Amino acid sequence: MSSTVPTVALLPGSIRASSLHRRLAAAVEDGLRQRHIDVDLIDLGDHPMPIYHGDDEAELGPPSQATALHDRIAACDGLILVSPEYNGGPSPLLKNAIDWVTRVDRGTLRRPLVGLVATSPGSRGGIHGLGVLRSIAVHMRLAIVDADFSLPEGHQRLEPVGGSWRVALDADAERFGQWLDVYVERLGEHRAARVAVDEGGTGR
Ligand SMILES: Cc1cc2nc3c(=O)[nH]c(=O)nc-3n(C[C@H](O)[C@H](O)[C@H](O)COP(=O)(O)O)c2cc1C
Repeated sequence: MSSTVPTVALLPGSIRASSLHRRLAAAVEDGLRQRHIDVDLIDLGDHPMPIYHGDDEAELGPPSQATALHDRIAACDGLILVSPEYNGGPSPLLKNAIDWVTRVDRGTLRRPLVGLVATSPGSRGGIHGLGVLRSIAVHMRLAIVDADFSLPEGHQRLEPVGGSWRVALDADAERFGQWLDVYVERLGEHRAARVAVDEGGTGR
């Protein structure tokens, strides 16, 4: 680990121009930077990939965009998935990206500390989709922070500020700040354990 400042990849699962998850990712980015964490905000529009198809993979291997996405994530200490809820699960854009990254190297996603956040225009804030995504992440044996963050009525509770976005209501902003605090604390522990393992120690 060369850098002294941890880096977190943010991966919104929507590329709509007015995506609520791009807005939430912007709020997460600001919150992390305020906590002295570097951020790589990934726009999946920069990594256009076909839907996974085993025959194409057998013939061509993973697309270069998948390898580039893999390499960006591999360079980070943390990974926060900012996940829309589509019919109770993560967006196909996000799931397809995850699937392709695992076809580049199935172990890479097990290294960063994973956080899960979501919003929705609805009153549940995408919480069901987060549960499904967590189940997938557990199946993949990822390192995940214990609690997720979800923001109901994101179309009303995210507001623009100075070219970015923030969580508007005091109660939500407090929950959001607490989630970020826990994530950053766990990130420090996770990174220290990884350094110990990488340097040949026990990681404890
Ligand atoms: C196919 C589809 C399924 C959806 N299913 C759900 C759902 O199960 N629960 C929910 O709260 N919102 C659902 N929504 C609404 C999304 O939460 C909403 O469109 C959200 O703004 C998408 O994220 P984005 O703004 O970042 O693109 C669905 C939207 C689409 C297009």
